Amino acid sequence: MECSVRPSPTRVLSLWTLLIGSFNIAGLRPGPSVRAESLDSVNLSAVAGGDATLPCDTRSPQPPDALLLVVWYKDDVPIYSYDGRVKGPSAHWADASLAGRARWHASPHSALKIRDVIPTDRALYRCRVDFKVSPTRNYKLVLHVIELPEKPKIFDESDKEIIGVAGPYIEDTSLKLTCVVSGGKPMPRLRWWRDDKMISKLEPTEDGSRLSTLELKIPKLKRDYFEAVYTCTADNTALVPPLRVNVQIQLYLRPLLVEILSREQPLSVGNEAELACRAVGARPSATITWWLDNKQMSVTDPQKDSEDRNETISFLRWTPRMEDDGRTLKCRAAHSKLEHATLETSIKLDLHFMPIVTLQLGSTLNPNDIEEGDDVYFDCGVNANPPAYKVVWEHNGQVMTHNQRAGVIAGSAHLALQGVSREQAGKYVCIASNVEGDGRSEPVTLQVIYKPVCKNAMAAIVGAAINEAARVTCEVDAFPPPKNFQWILNNTMGTKEIDPSKFTVTNVGRSILTYTPNTEADYGSLSCRATNLAGQQIEPCRYTLLPAVKPDPPTNCSARNLTDDSAELRCAAGYDGGLQTTYFVEVWEAGELIANVSTITPVWKLQGLGSGKALKLAFYANNARGRSEVTTMRVHTLSRLALHTEAKSTSGMDTSWALGIIAGIVVTLAILTAIALLARKRHRPLQYEAPVQTVKAYKGSMQSANHSPIQTDDKNPDVVPLGKDYNCARDLERPPEPPPYAAVVSPPVGSSRSVHSLHDTRSNTPHTPNTPASDAQSIGTLGEDRRSVTSGTLSRRREVVTTRTPLLANARESCV
Ligand SMILES: *[C@@H]1O[C@H](CO)[C@@H](O)[C@H](O)[C@H]1NC(C)=O
Ligand SMILES: *[C@@H]1O[C@H](CO)[C@@H](O)[C@H](O)[C@H]1NC(C)=O
Ligand SMILES: *[C@@H]1O[C@H](CO)[C@@H](O)[C@H](O)[C@H]1NC(C)=O
Ligand SMILES: *[C@@H]1O[C@H](CO)[C@@H](O)[C@H](O)[C@H]1NC(C)=O
Ligand SMILES: *[C@@H]1O[C@H](CO)[C@@H](O)[C@H](O)[C@H]1NC(C)=O
Ligand SMILES: *[C@@H]1O[C@H](CO)[C@@H](O)[C@H](O)[C@H]1NC(C)=O
Repeated sequence: MECSVRPSPTRVLSLWTLLIGSFNIAGLRPGPSVRAESLDSVNLSAVAGGDATLPCDTRSPQPPDALLLVVWYKDDVPIYSYDGRVKGPSAHWADASLAGRARWHASPHSALKIRDVIPTDRALYRCRVDFKVSPTRNYKLVLHVIELPEKPKIFDESDKEIIGVAGPYIEDTSLKLTCVVSGGKPMPRLRWWRDDKMISKLEPTEDGSRLSTLELKIPKLKRDYFEAVYTCTADNTALVPPLRVNVQIQLYLRPLLVEILSREQPLSVGNEAELACRAVGARPSATITWWLDNKQMSVTDPQKDSEDRNETISFLRWTPRMEDDGRTLKCRAAHSKLEHATLETSIKLDLHFMPIVTLQLGSTLNPNDIEEGDDVYFDCGVNANPPAYKVVWEHNGQVMTHNQRAGVIAGSAHLALQGVSREQAGKYVCIASNVEGDGRSEPVTLQVIYKPVCKNAMAAIVGAAINEAARVTCEVDAFPPPKNFQWILNNTMGTKEIDPSKFTVTNVGRSILTYTPNTEADYGSLSCRATNLAGQQIEPCRYTLLPAVKPDPPTNCSARNLTDDSAELRCAAGYDGGLQTTYFVEVWEAGELIANVSTITPVWKLQGLGSGKALKLAFYANNARGRSEVTTMRVHTLSRLALHTEAKSTSGMDTSWALGIIAGIVVTLAILTAIALLARKRHRPLQYEAPVQTVKAYKGSMQSANHSPIQTDDKNPDVVPLGKDYNCARDLERPPEPPPYAAVVSPPVGSSRSVHSLHDTRSNTPHTPNTPASDAQSIGTLGEDRRSVTSGTLSRRREVVTTRTPLLANARESCV
């Protein structure tokens, strides 16, 4: 400044310098105007550590002139010179204080360049340019050396340095950050920015301190400060960009809302449901928990965050139980760091479930005292959600229908049975239905008590021998089962109650009488009557106690399914004498017994008979009283080689053919004899005629009690065999023991009718003389059964008629 400067070239030069300076030195502060005093010096800035270019115009003025010398003065002390007349490095001279950092450059624009600018470079520089002819020129420059500040540092409220992230702060609290910058010459300017927006600024103040501080204050950290980035910048020159430090604000955000996402379907008991709960706004994301009436539920699936992390969803898989209905299901969103930021929402459970049905007998009814005819009603209690749309009733597994006429009134809550019958006893169930299913009640058993009724309506015949114990079983149907039974014997001697020690009573409605007739007076009609809660049996069970006899022989025997080796034999059973009877068949071949088979029914299956054999079959029945007479039959087993059909017809034919002829003769003879007898009958006194006495008659009424039960019969019936002896083989092989009441009682059918004639004739004959007048009564009742009533004379004869019918052709023979 103190140097004198010539005005005219300087004006030009200063503009030029300005250009050069702005070109060479970034951030050169331009000389604003060309005022006189400002011409004295030009301000130049350089950053410490950087380079500085001090321009000095050495172009010759007009006319062209030669450059002699350039000398640089720092605060008027020469520090550098350049001699234009010298070539090579020796043209340059530099003071030692520059330490080799400075160098003169002639082109492109003449200037002194200083490297590694140091604060002490701050000074007033003058450049003196000497020409050969032209006057010397002087330029003044003020070099400002700028010292950059240190990088800003940010401290929080507790003076802790923040690096990168500040916080975490809790939502709605305040924040204070301090940006501190040390050093800088000139003092730096501090500024706080959020993104591109300046928030606050500190203008440099030259107060001598080395520290500059600028605070950032946010009184309330709202949600929009979440992860906001703030920047503190410091600058004291435009030559370099401002120094900057970023800080991100970390915030804890409480959840804003929690909700259980609504379901379309209602929850139903027993069905697993997936429920979702959503929490919004919490940072870090909310912790979702589920609670059922304040009891935490376990959740297996991890909760999920949305992509922007603003939303969290938890899924609960849960199977509601019945008892959960009406409970409160809660979803709670908690913040892991903020204790009081918990939000919760709840729903009251309205569960759908299958109807729960309870069935009860009407409360005024005594379940143990319902008699037939009483009115009964049931109450069906239904607990259902949604309500049941229908209720049906079942009786013993069968759906009941409303039938007012039958006295069945079935409603949705009640079932009424008017005038209940015993058939209506049993298990009742009430079933209610809704969309969840059908709910069944536990069955309720209706007991209807009724008087005993005999299980077997038919009067049974019981045979018992004198001094032998017979067992008579009386079974009744009753509810409850009767505990008391009464047995009564009724006969001509009167009515007598049987001592209870003689019979047992079981708890299933059965009484077994063990009865031993000691005299004839102990036979008769037995009746049994039971008594239960409902009263005494009205119609007793009746039994006819008959003297046991030996059985009647099997009749109407036939062979079926005759093969070359086997036969199935079948007879009709005769009267079993009132005792357990066994049926026998003996198979004879040429006088040799080849089989002897017994069964409890008159059906036999014979095997291993051998083919093409002529067999004689003897059938008889046997019981404790003895053995019946014998019925015989002949069969031929089929020839093994013959065809079945052929064998059947031929084997049937060849024997039957001869027999047929014989039969014809016999029938003719019989007819003739009958005619003769009838003729004789007219002339004979009636005492020879006798009605046929039958067991049936005896069974029907015990009025023939004057007969000895073991009456001796005629042991030698004069049998007159006709035809071949096999036709009535039983008489030859087994001399008959005529039973006292022996007669086969079986309905006469078809061709075998004549069989009965024979039996009747033979067996009844012995009775003739003994038949009391009372027997005549029974004849009337038996007239239908006893088709053949023969005269005494004829009864002494035996007729043998062999019939052959096509149906029974295969070796079927009848003994008549
Ligand atoms: C140079 O800087 C000084 C102070 O720093 C100032 O007074 C002067 O006006 C400046 N000169 C020019 C030409 O800007
Ligand atoms: C989070 O969700 C809430 C509610 O939808 C909304 O108000 C808020 O702006 C969201 N925040 C972000 C960061 O998306
Ligand atoms: C006994 O028998 C007689 C004659 O059959 C009959 O009238 C009477 O009612 C019977 N008594 C009983 C108790 O069965
Ligand atoms: C005799 O046997 C035939 C054929 O097996 C049968 O149809 C008939 O009913 C029987 N008669 C009697 C009284 O059993
Ligand atoms: C004859 O035998 C066959 C085969 O064994 C059987 O199916 C059929 O019922 C029998 N017939 C009679 C009448 O028993
Ligand atoms: C057949 O068997 C019965 C019972 O075993 C017996 O009583 C009868 O004498 C036997 N018949 C012959 C002919 O042996």
